[in-house]
Amino acid sequence: MTVKLTYHGHACFSIETGGAHLLIDPFLSGNAMADVKPERVKADYILVSHAHGDHLGDAVPIARRTGAEVISNFEIANYMEQQQVKAHAMHIGGARVFPFGKVKLTIAHHGSSFPDGSYGGNPCGFLLWLEGKVLYFAGDTALTYDMKLYGEEGIDVAMLPIGDNFTMGPEDAVKAAGFLQPKLAVLMHYNTFGAIAQDAQAVADAMKAQTTATPVIMRPGETLTVT
Ligand code: NI
Ligand code: MN
Repeated sequence: MTVKLTYHGHACFSIETGGAHLLIDPFLSGNAMADVKPERVKADYILVSHAHGDHLGDAVPIARRTGAEVISNFEIANYMEQQQVKAHAMHIGGARVFPFGKVKLTIAHHGSSFPDGSYGGNPCGFLLWLEGKVLYFAGDTALTYDMKLYGEEGIDVAMLPIGDNFTMGPEDAVKAAGFLQPKLAVLMHYNTFGAIAQDAQAVADAMKAQTTATPVIMRPGETLTVT
């Protein structure tokens, strides 16, 4: 009964829980940080936070190869079904119990157009209840006071963007960790390209000094066992 979280660079994570493989925001092709090829990564379910290319990524080919079900907002789920990919549509505030655990879509202040500019619905984050653990994947978002509310769930691991420019930057990510009060805060969405270059160690040091969260810098390919 363990939850294993593996980082693949940028905002892509694999979660192994109760025998199921979840994959979040599988941007692998064209991601210089990625440790795994889309042809090799395991997936039973693919969670897509929004339609931007660096999150939608290789979701369609991975889902076709593995038969994985995509869990995302209504618009992205519709798009997946048009691509002959199995999908489950949800929306912000809605939760559902899947065979592997519970998923709730959370607010993300961001955009969500597809790479061709078409409408991709609202961006989201995910609250996940897996094997008695609570994980929060913020997605691409600004700091939002709603995070204080999500913190009431008793979060074990929060995955927070720190890149700035398109999402929260270092100072707001530290505030987010203060609102969420997770046991562990995994830093993401930085150093993939120039506009989001950050000193992750400096962010981790500030988080450690100013919040109760233990910051975690994961190297691509590294796995964290959530206990
Ligand atoms: Ni984005
Ligand atoms: Mn992004």
